[in-house]
Amino acid sequence: MAIDFDRIARERLPALLRAMPKAELHIHIEGSLEPELIFRLAQRNGVTLPYPSVDALRAAYAFTDLQSFLDIYYAGASVLLKEQDFFDMAWAYFEKAAADNVVHAELFFDPQTHTDRGVPFEVVIRGLHHACQRAHAELGLSASLILCFLRHLSEDAAMATLEQALPYRSHFIGVGLDSSERGHPPEKFARVFARCRELGLRIVAHAGEEGPPAYIVSALDVLKVERIDHGVRCVEDPALVERLAAERMPLTVCPLSNVKLCVFKTMAGHNLPALLAAGLVATVNSDDPAYFGGYLNENFVQAFAALPQLGPREAHTLARNSFEASFVAPSVREGWARQLDDVFAAAAAAT
Ligand code: ADE
Ligand code: ZN
Repeated sequence: MAIDFDRIARERLPALLRAMPKAELHIHIEGSLEPELIFRLAQRNGVTLPYPSVDALRAAYAFTDLQSFLDIYYAGASVLLKEQDFFDMAWAYFEKAAADNVVHAELFFDPQTHTDRGVPFEVVIRGLHHACQRAHAELGLSASLILCFLRHLSEDAAMATLEQALPYRSHFIGVGLDSSERGHPPEKFARVFARCRELGLRIVAHAGEEGPPAYIVSALDVLKVERIDHGVRCVEDPALVERLAAERMPLTVCPLSNVKLCVFKTMAGHNLPALLAAGLVATVNSDDPAYFGGYLNENFVQAFAALPQLGPREAHTLARNSFEASFVAPSVREGWARQLDDVFAAAAAAT
């Protein structure tokens, strides 16, 4: 039965955005470390932080671009030393995600941030994997891990990380590419991604966040990605927009992140409505929620509040896209899409 979106009043939108089932496909788990947990882990592990208090740390969260954020983000991750620390971080995220009606999450993690400090790879992945298993068992939330290579480091370093990860091949579903984008184009990692494809890993990459549309093109053509993380600068290349739409190539868009990192000056100036209007498979995600002012529902609510072009139909499309773009079996994601339809049909009937 068709959903009559026009029957859903705008004032009911925030509640509907919160209630609808959704998948999160772009969350750096290290970016979910809240200042309170950073301080708790610092104390537990005897790590001295360059900030005297939680409030002083939070006050430093005023970013001018991606690099200004990454400097603080990597410093925050320095408190993670033990398997239990990685578990606690991911578990705190899962509790928040479940409260946001996230039914499925694909979590990025940055092993090099930890192994370069002497934390063994297996400590990182065991803690995260255990949290994923418990999220499924106790919260009914399906979760998987995507290993990201740091693009400011060398391809040889990425290849060495992949080798370290192979004994844990069953614990992660794919690989991504993150960190400082400008000056580090996807083609720098052509060989390591070719190896990952041979291994049957799913492939994603950050592209077109701060970097030019040409980086999106090389992520597609050289790395052969299955999703683009961010991708908002695609609109500067109309032929690329047409290609992304024709290929139904998903974009994992992160509205609060884009405003906090000055990719857009304001939420009202975000191009999410234009991406949807162009027929792109856009999704909404939180990126680094502890640093950018909110988890997934906050991203939806703030984007819809600032952008009048976004209404109930777009809410449904974005949630449906999140299931389509996920790396789960079609039978499972179709089940979630039916739940989504039921939530919207009930909202239309109740108005
Ligand atoms: N690592 C964590 N958040 C990131 C972002 N928004 N872009 C690139 N790398 C990141
Ligand atoms: Zn990201």
